[in-house]
Amino acid sequence: MIIETIVSTRSASGSVNFAPMGATFSSDGRVVFVVYHSTQTYRNLEANLSGVINLVSDVTLFVKTALYDFSPAHALSNHVEGGIMDLAEEAVEFEIDNIEPMEGKSKLSGHVVSRKTLKTPEAGLNRGRIAAIEALIAVTRIGVLDRMEIAQTMERSREIVNKTGGAKELEAMKLIEEVYEKAIDVDSEDSGKPGSKR
Ligand SMILES: Cc1cc2nc3c(=O)[nH]c(=O)nc-3n(C[C@H](O)[C@H](O)[C@H](O)COP(=O)(O)O)c2cc1C
Repeated sequence: MIIETIVSTRSASGSVNFAPMGATFSSDGRVVFVVYHSTQTYRNLEANLSGVINLVSDVTLFVKTALYDFSPAHALSNHVEGGIMDLAEEAVEFEIDNIEPMEGKSKLSGHVVSRKTLKTPEAGLNRGRIAAIEALIAVTRIGVLDRMEIAQTMERSREIVNKTGGAKELEAMKLIEEVYEKAIDVDSEDSGKPGSKR
């Protein structure tokens, strides 16, 4: 099962980066990511071979770290290269020990160094939160996915967020819409590739 998380890594120059990434946890304490080469996260993981998985429920944090130049409040990890978000419900520090190149991306796997529960996660499922994540993923793939497919995902997500979401989901959708509107106005040639932040 892939869990949507916010992965923090550090660049060669020391700056801390946060970006949403899917992570697969296995029962033997290993973690697997598939990361596009175009992302800062990939460059950082290749350079430092470690990072922090932040598990969070606040969907606005996914939007801001995916699409905006935004650094959430955090503390530096003592064990690996990366940051533990103040709002993380759980922080998983990991080291990469295997990289398998694929086309345009790589499968990176490694072991968990430390896993800490920091807050009680919000219980229950909200459809608006899931819908906002789907819209966000579609917008991070502008220039890669078919425009109609993205437009349909946006329309459906909008409906679900408006019907079922709370304040965070509405704010998240508004931030996604702002980037979407700008991206569809400009030439699709450079209207966003995986890894681009505005
Ligand atoms: C929920 C979610 C999951 C994502 N999972 C991945 C992933 O597994 N691999 C990847 O390369 N990009 C993934 N992305 C896209 C990156 O987060 C996005 O390209 C981001 O801008 C990369 O930031 P960076 O360049 O600072 O690393 C995901 C986006 C979202 C919203």
